[in-house]
Amino acid sequence: MADIVIKPVSSLQGHVVVPGDKSISHRALLLSAIAEGESTLTGLSAAEDVRHTRMCMEKMGIAFRDEAETVYVSGKGMYGLKKPDDVLYVGNSGTTIRLMTGILAAQPFESVIDGDESIRTRPMRRIIEPLEAMGAQIVSEDNKAPLRISGGVLRAINYASPIASAQIKSCIIMAGLYARGLTCVTEPSQSRDHTERMLKEFGAEAQYSRNGAGVKGPAHLTACHIDVPCDISAAAFFLIAACLLRDSTVRIKNVGINPTRTGVLDVLASMGAKIDMSDQSEISGEPRATLTARFSELGSVNLAGTIIPKIIDEIPIIAIAATQAGGVTTIRDAQELRVKESDRIAAMSINLRKMGGEVRETKDGLVISGPTGLKGAEIESYGDHRIAMSFAVAGLLAEGETIIKNYECVNTSFPGFFEKIDSLKND
Ligand code: S3P
Repeated sequence: MADIVIKPVSSLQGHVVVPGDKSISHRALLLSAIAEGESTLTGLSAAEDVRHTRMCMEKMGIAFRDEAETVYVSGKGMYGLKKPDDVLYVGNSGTTIRLMTGILAAQPFESVIDGDESIRTRPMRRIIEPLEAMGAQIVSEDNKAPLRISGGVLRAINYASPIASAQIKSCIIMAGLYARGLTCVTEPSQSRDHTERMLKEFGAEAQYSRNGAGVKGPAHLTACHIDVPCDISAAAFFLIAACLLRDSTVRIKNVGINPTRTGVLDVLASMGAKIDMSDQSEISGEPRATLTARFSELGSVNLAGTIIPKIIDEIPIIAIAATQAGGVTTIRDAQELRVKESDRIAAMSINLRKMGGEVRETKDGLVISGPTGLKGAEIESYGDHRIAMSFAVAGLLAEGETIIKNYECVNTSFPGFFEKIDSLKND
């Protein structure tokens, strides 16, 4: 586990390419594996989390071939997966374990799925309960990974999820593909809808709305082409860095702007950020655009309720922006952040205080006063990619050097992140 030193910069300038959307990449690999025929995937993320989804599918007999920028997937159909000889290891990837368990719950074999230390602490009852209601048997210790799944015939359910979570919704929809009848999930407020959109590309009957999603089973998926847009959650680090550093302009092309993901743009706009959107198009059911961010004087914002699922992965970097915004920013209803790759509420508040930020932790969020001049400090990433990248941006603004511990965890979602920052430096 190595450290990296971040030095302050005066501005960032230029064009940057960010990885393919992680959420969409996972779904493209999972659905193409159970589709009939050869799918072609472009723009796929090369991040570690996504590699784990691919490796798990390889362990179940799915062949992937890389040629230039395209990944060819030999889909084996709904029941073409073979029993893995070994544990399915997901590394740090919550999306892999939760979505894949939905598929495993319907397979006529037993499987074990597990992950790293962080995955073993994350709550799985949220998927075990609905999958058991559908007829699956899942054995675990205290509802945590490893999960031993005895799959089989499933029945369709109507599930009211108590949490707005695309991982829960998508897990149930994956299982619902195998159950006879209509499987529906409702949620307290809308989470990202990539699964529902992509199912249509694969020819399945999927429905979606503001309060949930449904799928009719048994489904038959047909191979197709999916082009994955760039990840707005990765772009957010550069967009916010450009807004915070005087004289900066950063442009990012082909960024996914699915409305269930663009909360960060809405929040930044309400803080006074100058972010332009151009070249809009829609490919593979997912809208995308070029985003250009410029230095802007920011004001504070109050974040709670239905916006939270739409910014769930961007809250750490929004918190960094809040330290530079005039006024008091409050973030509430974000208790889910406590069960991400790390406890992100605690990680943000501990590290921000080390840098001289004025921040108070609440049970479901943060209260941040700004603007404050940040000072370089030694930052604990807690092995969490989004914490490491958020504080790398904070380090660019701070006085003195910032050390990010265990910085390699950025590979979870964004290999090459630090090199991209270097390429935009304009000193
Ligand atoms: C994801 C959903 C979100 C998000 C995660 C990716 C997905 O998690 O935080 O990074 O791809 O479905 P929750 O569903 O737990 O909110």
